[in-house]
Amino acid sequence: MKIVSDKTADLQRRSEKAKAMGGPERLEAQKKAGKLTARERLDLLLDEDSFQELDLLRQTRAKEFGLADKDLPADGVVTGMGRIHGRNVCVYSQDFTVMGGSLGLAHAEKICKIMDLALESGVPVIGLCDSGGARIQEGVDALGGYAEIFYRNVQASGAIPQISAILGPCAGGAVYSPAITDFVFMVKDTSHMFITGPEVIRAATGEETDFDTLGGVEAHSERSGVCHFVANSEPDCFRQIQELLEFLPQNYAEPVKPRVTADDPNRESAALDRIAHQDAKRPYAAHEVIRELADERSFFEVHAGFARNIVIGFIRLGGKSVGVVANNPAHLSGALDIAASEKAARFVRCCDAFNIPLLTLVDVPGYWPGVEQEHGGIIRKGAKLLYAYCQATVPKVTVVLKKAYGGAYDVMSSKHVRGDLNFAWPCAEIAVMGPQGAVSILFAREIRRAAKPEERRKELVDDYTKQFANPYLAAQRGYIDEVIEARKTRGKIVNAFRFLRGKKAAKSPKKHGNIPL
Ligand code: HXC
Repeated sequence: MKIVSDKTADLQRRSEKAKAMGGPERLEAQKKAGKLTARERLDLLLDEDSFQELDLLRQTRAKEFGLADKDLPADGVVTGMGRIHGRNVCVYSQDFTVMGGSLGLAHAEKICKIMDLALESGVPVIGLCDSGGARIQEGVDALGGYAEIFYRNVQASGAIPQISAILGPCAGGAVYSPAITDFVFMVKDTSHMFITGPEVIRAATGEETDFDTLGGVEAHSERSGVCHFVANSEPDCFRQIQELLEFLPQNYAEPVKPRVTADDPNRESAALDRIAHQDAKRPYAAHEVIRELADERSFFEVHAGFARNIVIGFIRLGGKSVGVVANNPAHLSGALDIAASEKAARFVRCCDAFNIPLLTLVDVPGYWPGVEQEHGGIIRKGAKLLYAYCQATVPKVTVVLKKAYGGAYDVMSSKHVRGDLNFAWPCAEIAVMGPQGAVSILFAREIRRAAKPEERRKELVDDYTKQFANPYLAAQRGYIDEVIEARKTRGKIVNAFRFLRGKKAAKSPKKHGNIPL
């Protein structure tokens, strides 16, 4: 028989009250808004019965502006420890039904406590955000609370994976915590992120906009690049978070758990041969190549809607997690521009921080030309990708599939920026520029003066193609370690990563570099 003492009953009463969140009316409003509650979300994200809550009974000490009379269960945020597929994680889940999930000092301290615990224990931290931002009544304490979280986000950066899911509003300076974390998820229709809302924008600039246009999923997954993953629903979001975690380690010092695979490491691919022989005017999507190379042809793409001229994401090779960066000829001919450079640079740094090896698939005609790009800062922002590759010390394997022209050849994990093993397909073209452009510059006068200018141009283009548009000059100089048949690529790269597993990188005693941010 279960004996319940008065004291136990008192604890149960207090706990139940705190767990009732904002009460039936506000819970109903949450449901009507198409959102789950803070606690339902944790139930779906975490392994069954694995959640251990901390600070359930925490309360604000603020009394100003009517707060003294308010009851704020758990101070509007559920925090604790749990497991995802058996792995320890720390989580916080903001409760919009308690004062709009607004962040006061106690709320912030609860999040900070869980972040400290995550960093000290070396486990990922996942934040489920649904909040009206700084609790206005708590003034500077709320602002200070946010800053304490930002500070911890930065300390934890590169040490433990940090994941944010935006499941409602995320406004004002509050957006900077997710922005610092490694991966941001948003859910269609219910997630919004912005620094200043539509009304402030209207007052300040006269621009007319609304929440969705300004800070909805489309804005951030396709235009701003703030959002890495779009989910169709909250359950879909949690499923994606679970899948992402499978590619990441618990922390920078631990390896990613390998997955047993029955896929033959030396599986040959006729599809890759077909892509290699396909006319350059019929562009292929980088995803096709990535899937052919990956274990079970499975590719977990990151940032799918943003800067589609470069494709990034995770695959497994021989069971091991590998980050992939691939130019995508199906969009803007795979050229590098500002958005692509920033997208890939952050991913390279993320993989390097967590010791995830990098596979780079090169098919790049160069940098995307234009006044907008130049004035937008392609020099400074394009340099980020160069910097990221130069700095990355994880095993780096590169395959030049087709074009590798100009500065983009250098940047895309070439031997010169310390690619460890660099391969090329026989159809690769590694040169300063393409045949047409080169001939126009080198032989403009000769072509003009020729009796039959177009015939002469064609002769010169053929000659240049024979001499320069191939992988063999680079192979003769050792910049390409091996020219490989397209169909055999998987076997070559699986073996290359297997060999590089023991790679040790020298550490510099300097404080840090000065990346062109
Ligand atoms: C205190 C807040 C609050 C806040 C919402 N509430 N935001 N209370 N501080 N920041 C309360 C509301 O008063 C309301 O209480 C309840 O939460 C639900 O809010 P509603 O407005 O009824 O909900 P909804 O219509 O869905 O609108 C949600 C919203 C809106 C769009 C988020 O509440 C809103 O615009 N809030 C303010 C957003 C904002 O500007 N925050 C400050 C950002 S600046 P009752 O009791 O009526 O139910 C910032 C600085 C951070 O955060 C700086 C860090 C450096």
